[in-house]
Amino acid sequence: MRTPLCTTLGIDLPIFAFSHCRDVVAAVSRAGGFGVLGAVGFPPDQLEIECRWIDEHVGDRPYGVDIVIPGKYEGMGETDPAKLEAMLLAAVPEEHRRFADKLLADHGVPKLPPGEKPVNELLGWTAATANPQIDVALRHPKVKLIANALGTPPADVIERVHASGRFMAALCGAPKQARAHREAGIDVIVAQGGEGGGHTGDVGSVVLWPQVIDAVAPTPVLAAGGIGSGRQIAAALAMGAQGVWTGSIWLTVAEAEAPPAQRDALLAATSRDTVRSRSFTGKPCRMLRNAWTDAWDAPGNPKPLGMPLQFMVTADAVARTHRYADKAKDVMFNPVGQVVGMMNEVRPVKDVIYRLVEEYLEAVERLQSVTAAGAS
Ligand SMILES: Cc1cc2nc3c(=O)[nH]c(=O)nc-3n(C[C@H](O)[C@H](O)[C@H](O)COP(=O)(O)O)c2cc1C
Repeated sequence: MRTPLCTTLGIDLPIFAFSHCRDVVAAVSRAGGFGVLGAVGFPPDQLEIECRWIDEHVGDRPYGVDIVIPGKYEGMGETDPAKLEAMLLAAVPEEHRRFADKLLADHGVPKLPPGEKPVNELLGWTAATANPQIDVALRHPKVKLIANALGTPPADVIERVHASGRFMAALCGAPKQARAHREAGIDVIVAQGGEGGGHTGDVGSVVLWPQVIDAVAPTPVLAAGGIGSGRQIAAALAMGAQGVWTGSIWLTVAEAEAPPAQRDALLAATSRDTVRSRSFTGKPCRMLRNAWTDAWDAPGNPKPLGMPLQFMVTADAVARTHRYADKAKDVMFNPVGQVVGMMNEVRPVKDVIYRLVEEYLEAVERLQSVTAAGAS
């Protein structure tokens, strides 16, 4: 399964695993893949703690850090995080806060206990908040790759990452975005099909991957969106991808941190239970469909704001539904892709990786034997 990108990064398997959970990141890299820590929810001091922990648990293996600097967002241009937050807070309509609060109350989700820290309302998805995260990541020598979601990162970010000897990756959902990444000097392009979890476009993987691969050749492309088996990895490599970038399947591994009610919802869901919705973050994001996503979509109700304003409305809901997950199933934020229908059991990371490799080998053999049988 080794591809040239494995040699570049010093890894055994071209299986990239996005996760917000440090245990998953370290376990994937230890198993020969490449774990990537999603930094968006971590203030810089917390990210420092997470990276230090991974450094201590990943042996001599490399890993990555993922940041989010969208190509377009409200308040773009303001580089001072405190000023940006004040400016954005003033722009959030009271009507939206009231609507979100009522939705939670109608579904019986309690308020946070007094003194409990709410989720940070201005997440790291602006240049102002992501830059300090990059500073942290670049202080850790085992971080070999910085990835950016939602757009081509600014030139100074790419320069800084390259000057430190690291590689820069960026996600995309269309060949045009992929070309812009390549022209900006991105080293690895992640082509994410619309069935993928989290923020995603609307073109399916099987159609998107070859278009992006052709558009940016010879820049290495990782295939993302919907991958949950080694058969799909074989298909992605056959199309010319140099590896795969996965997210959803790591949500239900033994090492992943999740309230049991949330994990159960993921294990029970089918591939038809997700929807692309702007209701939590302001940009289209694939998640489990529930009463919350339906309410923000219903005529007559407030429409979701842009990024990052909408999360300033929903941060309280995310904290409360996480805290009271067993009471909040109908209104919880469950970002996940359509591959959720293949996520039916809890297994350790190492087993998941081994099975992906086994299935990949079986798929390659099957291809050889079916065509050999056809030829005879
Ligand atoms: C819960 C969740 C959160 C995500 N958050 C981010 C993120 O912060 N940054 C990012 O680059 N991608 C994020 N993604 C997308 C993943 O990096 C990856 O591209 C996607 O999960 C691939 O599709 P799959 O879910 O079908 O494997 C997220 C995905 C999930 C499931």
